[in-house]
Amino acid sequence: MLEIVFVKHALPGSAGLGLLIGEGESPSGIWQEADEATGGAIGRALRVAEFTGKKAQSAVLLAPGAGLSRVAAVGTGKAAERTRLEIEEAGGTAAAMLGRDETAALAADGLAPELAAAAALGAVLRSYRFDRYRTTEKPDEKPRLRKLSVLSMEPAKAEAAYAPMRAVAEGVFLTRDLVSEPANVLNPAEMAKRCEALERSGLKVEVFGPKELRKLGFGALLGVAQGSANEPRMVVMEWQGAAPGRRKKKPVAFIGKGVTFDTGGISIKPASGMEDMKWDMAGAGAVIGLMRALAERKAKTHAVGLVGLVENMPSDRAQRPGDVVKTASGQTVEVINTDAEGRLVLADVLWYCQDRFDPQCMVDLATLTGAIIVGLGHEYAGLFSNDDALAERLGKAGLQTGERVWRMPLGEAYDKELRSEIADMKNVTGRPGSSITAAQFLQRFVNGKPWAHLDIAGMAWTTKDAALVPKGASAFGVRLLDRLVADNFAE
Ligand code: BES
Ligand code: MN
Ligand code: ZN
Repeated sequence: MLEIVFVKHALPGSAGLGLLIGEGESPSGIWQEADEATGGAIGRALRVAEFTGKKAQSAVLLAPGAGLSRVAAVGTGKAAERTRLEIEEAGGTAAAMLGRDETAALAADGLAPELAAAAALGAVLRSYRFDRYRTTEKPDEKPRLRKLSVLSMEPAKAEAAYAPMRAVAEGVFLTRDLVSEPANVLNPAEMAKRCEALERSGLKVEVFGPKELRKLGFGALLGVAQGSANEPRMVVMEWQGAAPGRRKKKPVAFIGKGVTFDTGGISIKPASGMEDMKWDMAGAGAVIGLMRALAERKAKTHAVGLVGLVENMPSDRAQRPGDVVKTASGQTVEVINTDAEGRLVLADVLWYCQDRFDPQCMVDLATLTGAIIVGLGHEYAGLFSNDDALAERLGKAGLQTGERVWRMPLGEAYDKELRSEIADMKNVTGRPGSSITAAQFLQRFVNGKPWAHLDIAGMAWTTKDAALVPKGASAFGVRLLDRLVADNFAE
């Protein structure tokens, strides 16, 4: 992880300098000093670049003098309208522009300590890279930035504000690592192992194997898993950060779809693009990263995270279209399409979660349907909920973190589509509204408890760089749900 230090006001030697500049702002502080030290080169360059400080505008200036290798100017818009998220994004953009230097400074001397920390968080989030399997890359092909000095008028305060943000970044990085791993490395057992490693952070971690899952009656999850030589797991993680006097409170619960690879099973997917299905465990990945973040920042809350981990493969042992399975709830399901496996996995885990923990609310994350990408593209996750207050809280957390959600409907008419000729329900409907009917299926397993479902199929992986997310695994959900907890479920 990019090393961050907060220091007061010292121009770097021969390295990069990032400037966050508001719209219409005139030079002051570090910016002014750097401009003077370079004989006005920065001001001249910004004028030629027609840089006005508008939101997301940026300009880079090479070797301006004063020993600086480059100056990266990033616009932060009008001071009055500026949000913390925009500062995070400006920090991320600056970090990307400063990537060629080993060390760089970011001038945050005009920002409150909270916002200086936010800029640092943005820089860290953007500098993520998964290069575990690159063995022949030359040093000059790798990003070099190792250490970023954030220049602040109150470095101690900025550092204190940054500590919990760093914990969240650790969670995001864990999720991105998990989601990036190929499926030959990250099978259910390996993923469970990586959960167990989180006991070091203070989480209680329980792993359930096939034997235990059979005992719990997880017929739907096991039906998906049975085609693969890689055995399934369920992992239950618990964070008890509430003060001892307040521990009776029911937990808030997070549930993740963890299909480590989704071939579709006997209802096999086409070859083209199937490699993407290594990230069909991104919901579970987000839950794991979230639990790590909560533990690392010692959130004053009681939270549980449950993930259902399976591999969906075709084989002589695989479940067939037409098979009927019995879920942990006792309800039976006719499996029409073995590629609608996520809902089968979640059905058992959701039921188990509400039955064991009686949570205040449950939020599940799943790369559940291709149809949600048709509907919302890559801008919003689909939000489905039986609880307006929870939906509203998620909407707010989404706007604050930039991990935005868009509410979709639920209703009786959609639910009816699930009727089966042989069992209590079937696992697929026709194409119309099929993200909604998938959510409707899940709702049959929440036993009326407050619940929200996030369909993150369009959000888990990105093919182009964004301010806080280099292309690849986004870890969508970690910052969203960390904020949901901080704002609504903490002491
Ligand atoms: N994991 C997929 C959904 C998905 C598709 C995620 C594309 C990310 C990108 C899910 O298990 C699936 O296969 N869904 C089917 C459901 C259908 C069989 C009713 C789909 O969306 O086509
Ligand atoms: Mn599938
Ligand atoms: Zn899937």
